[in-house]
Amino acid sequence: MLRVEKLEKRFGGIVALTEYYVQIEQGELMALIGPNGAGKTTVFNLLSGVLKPTNGKIYFQGQDITVKRPDQKAKLGIARTFQNIRLFNELSVTDNIKVAFHMHMGSGLWPTLLHLPRFRRTELEMSRKVDEFLDLLGLQAVRNELAKNLPYGTQRRVEIARALASAPKLLLLDEPAAGLNINETESLKNIITRIHKEYGLTILLVEHDMKMVMAICTRIQVLDRGRVLAVGSPAEIRSDSRVIAAYLGTGNGSGSA
Ligand SMILES: Nc1ncnc2c1ncn2[C@@H]1O[C@H](COP(=O)(O)OP(=O)(O)O)[C@@H](O)[C@H]1O
Ligand SMILES: [Mg+2]
Repeated sequence: MLRVEKLEKRFGGIVALTEYYVQIEQGELMALIGPNGAGKTTVFNLLSGVLKPTNGKIYFQGQDITVKRPDQKAKLGIARTFQNIRLFNELSVTDNIKVAFHMHMGSGLWPTLLHLPRFRRTELEMSRKVDEFLDLLGLQAVRNELAKNLPYGTQRRVEIARALASAPKLLLLDEPAAGLNINETESLKNIITRIHKEYGLTILLVEHDMKMVMAICTRIQVLDRGRVLAVGSPAEIRSDSRVIAAYLGTGNGSGSA
């Protein structure tokens, strides 16, 4: 599904990422972990097209997408959430999801919000999908609330619903559990597992919550200071001495950065 070779990103003199590689198979749920500043979000920015690499190649389903724009990559099936939530604050939960839908289908923001006639047929089909995502993410009770009035944990779930609305093949989740309490994190864990299984999605997850990562991911890649430090199963990563030294610290595999 995704193959990345020798990816590099420099910001002036700063090397944010170098010699980065990854290969993700269809249907995998893989984690990308590492200390703050390791380059995790930079990887997502390069994969989603927000940034252009200074070197290296990105292949998605065999196609070279290294320099494609974010909208082109979204059309091909790469969706992401952001470490810092980006919702339309003045729109309801439902409209936030609908806008993502229409952007994906190329019909744009205003026809969606104005309910223009030529969009009514797709509107029906879309409403069904929106309902499905509201159910899946436990958002039915707040469907008409403005995004800005929602608690942080709920906004995070709206972000995931928005990403799903673009019918992705590869979903990139950037610290979805950041700022969530224990109950919210547990429910998020179940949601990610369900999305992965029910939609057969390929997922790359950046997350500091090691308990969650170890529980749901089959493979983990560790980044440290812009370089790949290790790739392996949760058991391999947990017992890798370089990883313990660089990241896990205590070595019990359940700490957070
Ligand atoms: N737009 C940018 N301009 C300059 N430096 C950046 C930019 N984005 C990230 N960096 C730098 O790249 C490094 C990796 O950052 P980032 O990918 O955000 O790390 P992580 O997500 O793992 O915490 C950091 O040193 C950060 O300061
Ligand atoms: Mg980050």
